[in-house]
This record gives sequence, structure tokens and C-alpha cells, in this order.
Amino acid sequence: MRASLPGDHHGHMIQVEHLTKRYGPTVAVSDVSFEVQKGEVLGFLGPNGAGKTTTMRVITGYLPPTEGKVSVAGFDVLESPIEAKRRTGYLPENPPVYPDMTVSEYLGFVARIKAVPRAEVKKRVEEVSEKCAVTDVRGRQIGKLSKGYRQRVGLAQALIHNPEVLVLDEPTAGLDPKQIIETRELIKNLAGQHTVVLSTHILPEVSKTCQRVVVINRGQVVAVGTPDDLTHHLQGYETVVVTAEGPAAEMIDKLQRVEGVNLVEPRDAAGERLTIELHAERGKDVRPEVARAVVEAGWKLYEIKTTGLSLEEIFLQLTTKDLGEAN
Ligand SMILES: Nc1ncnc2c1ncn2[C@@H]1O[C@H](COP(=O)(O)OP(=O)(O)OP(=O)(O)O)[C@@H](O)[C@H]1O
Ligand SMILES: [Mg+2]
Repeated sequence: MRASLPGDHHGHMIQVEHLTKRYGPTVAVSDVSFEVQKGEVLGFLGPNGAGKTTTMRVITGYLPPTEGKVSVAGFDVLESPIEAKRRTGYLPENPPVYPDMTVSEYLGFVARIKAVPRAEVKKRVEEVSEKCAVTDVRGRQIGKLSKGYRQRVGLAQALIHNPEVLVLDEPTAGLDPKQIIETRELIKNLAGQHTVVLSTHILPEVSKTCQRVVVINRGQVVAVGTPDDLTHHLQGYETVVVTAEGPAAEMIDKLQRVEGVNLVEPRDAAGERLTIELHAERGKDVRPEVARAVVEAGWKLYEIKTTGLSLEEIFLQLTTKDLGEAN
């Protein structure tokens, strides 16, 4: 077994082992295990009530686990809370608000709470303000900022003590599309220097920002993988979508006879132009053969691409399968 020394973390910045959290009779999180590698951005994806916030509160030391073990940078959050917290920045679901403080005052205040040496507070406040693009509003009262700016201030306070680990609970919730894109960019820029876990119930979020995804439903992990793994390998076949112009029946017939193609289904027609979905044997890329078949017949090929299941479909599949098993 692992004889682990404090601070010795085998490349795992966060380790969650068999975490269970109960609130009285409610099991919020049940036997959840996952790791986050140094520098990784991990998405924690699940519907409302799945247990995301609860798990994050345990990781950040705000809630004790009922069972199991969580460590940050090798420090057990229960046994070495100070060491673990020193290395963790947390953007809670509902950040505490100090509406009367200016952005700079608030960040300075958090810096002192987080034991940033006095001589460095000013510099740190300036650095994180710059990084999170709140320098322009640093003299404004937090209560008078827009939601997007307040969210960035929330990110700035999470970063103030330059923690190795960042735990962000729904960092883009409630933001407008432009702010969402900006926040995603910001998070992507933090990756590498920091290890990030972010939760979301919005599916495109994870494919945009995360290298790996843990899908959680009703307190249990139902899938772990890269967004690509989730979209491609959970289904038993490869999907290719072809858009071409030619006689529909002949085209379908011809594509059916391409080696490796198992199923051909027209999806959309615009005049002579047809969009057709093909299912092929798993692990087989039939695109070159499909392209050749279309072109050799003298038809016009407009597009040929592979698609996986959408994250929405995956998510539905995982969560309904789980429901099915529970019944
Ligand atoms: N303080 C609490 N007391 C009792 N039950 C709680 C408490 N906090 C959360 N729960 C319950 O635990 C479960 C998980 O809640 P949690 O807030 O962790 O989910 P979540 O995935 O963050 O959901 P959301 O997407 O809505 O934020 C839910 O059933 C919730 O009702
Ligand atoms: Mg939550």
C-alpha cells in the first residue's frame, strides 16, 4: 500500500478516495473516487442535486467527509487542514459578498485572511486584478458591479494567495455569452500553472475548457474520461456524416456497400443535396472509402466528417441508464 508522507502527492494534486457525505438521512455523495493531475483542468459535470457542491466543499475543507479521504497536494484535508487550505483557492457557488467594499479593499482583505505576507498584499492584489481583468473597476464597490465583474472578483479572490489548486463551483453560471467566453479563456490561461476543478451542469462547458470530465449523478460517479472519450468510445460505433449531391437512392445504395459501413441513414435533404449519416465499425475510419465512392460515381462531395454522440446524448444515456439500474 501507499506509505504516503505529507506533501508527497505522486503527481495527483487532488485525490478523492471513496468519499461519502451524508446530511442526516440524505446521501449527497456516495463512494466517489477520482484524481486530478497537476496542471489539469477537470470538469465535474452533473445535473442539479448531483453532489457537485458537496464534493467541492469537502475538497476545500469547508465540510468534513462522512466517510473516505480527500487530499490536496498530498495533505489530508481533515488531518492537515491548514496545509491543504493554503494550497487551495475556492470560488464558491454563492461567493460571500461585501457589497460596501471596493474591489481592491476586498481583495486586500482576503489576502490578509489567506496569510499573504503584508509586504506582498498590494502586489498580489494588482496581479490578480490584472489576471482577472478587474483592474478597471478596482475602486468600485462590489455591490455595484455587474454579475460578470463580480464573478471575476470571485475568481481573483480565489487566486489571491497563488494556490496550486483552484476549485471553481459553476464559474460561468449566470453570465452572458460574452462573459462566458471571457471566463473560459481566463480559466484556460490558469491551467498549467494551477490545477483546476470546475463544476458545471452545462454540457458544452466541459468540452470547451476541460481535459477530463467526471460525470456525477445522484451522488455517484457514472463516467470518467476526456470529452472525446465520452463522445466517441461510449457508443459502439463510429458515426460519419456525409453531405453530397447526387441521386438519393443510388447514393444510399452505393454507400451501403462501402466496406465497414453498417448503417446508412439520410438525415437531411436540400434539393439535390443530401446529408447522410453512416455508422461504421468501431475503430474504423471509413471516410477515405466513402469519399472515393462518392467522387468515383461523379457526385459532388461537399462535406465528410466524423461525429460522436453529443455530450447531451451521452449525459442522457448515462443518467437514464443509472436510473434504470436503480429501479
Ligand atoms: N446542507 C444541506 N443539508 C441537507 N441536504 C443538503 C445540504 N446541501 C446539499 N444537500 C443535498 O445534497 C444533494 C447534493 O447537493 P449539492 O448541492 O452537492 O448538488 P449540486 O450537484 O451542487 O447541485 P446544483 O447543480 O443544483 O448546484 C442534494 O440532494 C441536496 O438537496
Ligand atoms: Mg451546486
